[in-house]
Amino acid sequence: MNISIFGSGGWGTAISLLLSDNGHRVTLWSKFPEEACALSETRATPLLGGIILPQSVAITSDIADACHGARLAVIATPSHAVRETAREMSAFLAPGTVVVCVSKGIDERDLKLFSQVLSEIFGEERRIVTLSGPSHAEEVARRIPTGCVAASRDENAALLVQDAFMNENFRVYTSSDVIGVELGAALKNVIALCAGTCDGLGFGDNTIAMLATRGLEEIARLAVAMGGRKETIAGLAGLGDLIVTCTSRHSRNRRAGVFIGQGMDTQSAMKAVGATVEGYYAALAAKNLSDKLSVEMPICRAAYSVLYESKPPREAIRELMNRAKRSESDIL
Ligand SMILES: NC(=O)c1ccc[n+]([C@@H]2O[C@H](COP(=O)([O-])OP(=O)(O)OC[C@H]3O[C@@H](n4cnc5c(N)ncnc54)[C@H](O)[C@@H]3O)[C@@H](O)[C@H]2O)c1
Repeated sequence: MNISIFGSGGWGTAISLLLSDNGHRVTLWSKFPEEACALSETRATPLLGGIILPQSVAITSDIADACHGARLAVIATPSHAVRETAREMSAFLAPGTVVVCVSKGIDERDLKLFSQVLSEIFGEERRIVTLSGPSHAEEVARRIPTGCVAASRDENAALLVQDAFMNENFRVYTSSDVIGVELGAALKNVIALCAGTCDGLGFGDNTIAMLATRGLEEIARLAVAMGGRKETIAGLAGLGDLIVTCTSRHSRNRRAGVFIGQGMDTQSAMKAVGATVEGYYAALAAKNLSDKLSVEMPICRAAYSVLYESKPPREAIRELMNRAKRSESDIL
């Protein structure tokens, strides 16, 4: 199958390798000609250590070229570039192409999920799939066993993506709950940032476990309010991704949080990480969605106050710990 990947960061590159392992004809597009040139020459990216891309992966910065003949078009840019990349692609993609979004986030401008943004841009005739789960690029590129979920309102499109991506090291489940999968993916980054902050403050495993569990609960609450299913948030794209992001040394969101907990201001922490920290943007979206839909999300709100209003993290945690008494199963 001809598959093109749009976005040549760590994840786009790891996916190119995975799909090339699976015998597909893969094209990897970078927006930046100099990046495409360097990748073509070295076949390697510092983002994935010593992993080398096979010569069979075509690399281009010409978007028309990348769109031409693609059966699957995989969007793997950082979240802030999903809309603009999809717009550029839409002029060249054939109507039958299935569009797969592997970027994790929420469109900041209008709080739309990427599946909604892509449906608007590509129209009904192109089927949209979200692929997500606990999948650090560094580990997928090393062919370490990994599991993800391909979610779509169109079952055949989800099955196509399952077939294309799945191999003995990469297991793919299908789902029809696009909203749950997308929200789990976007918002676990906020909780991971908070987990890192707790680590940076010198708190222990108890705190991280409480944060992750209660964080998952508020993500589920929002997912249900938006039409998703609670059980999806307990699956790979929710709980699975939350575990990996809260605990892994590969997680940029967690690392940014550690710096903040150690006393760095937000902007310096993001600079120190040196790559996109999606949880920073997702915290703003979560706060706005919580306001808009009147869903109580105390942890995401606390993250927002620390990241955008310079609230000292220790104070934010003190406030969370001093919230009114309630039963664990209370909805609010
Ligand atoms: N890295 C992972 O392990 C991983 C795993 C699963 C999902 N994701 C998701 O995939 C998306 C990409 O993550 P990543 O780790 O590859 O990001 P990254 O920070 O490695 O991406 C950097 C690359 O993005 C591209 N880029 C930057 N600005 C762009 C723009 N305006 N238009 C087009 N391309 C642009 C450039 O090629 C740049 O090299 C994110 O939404 C992330 O949450 C990442």
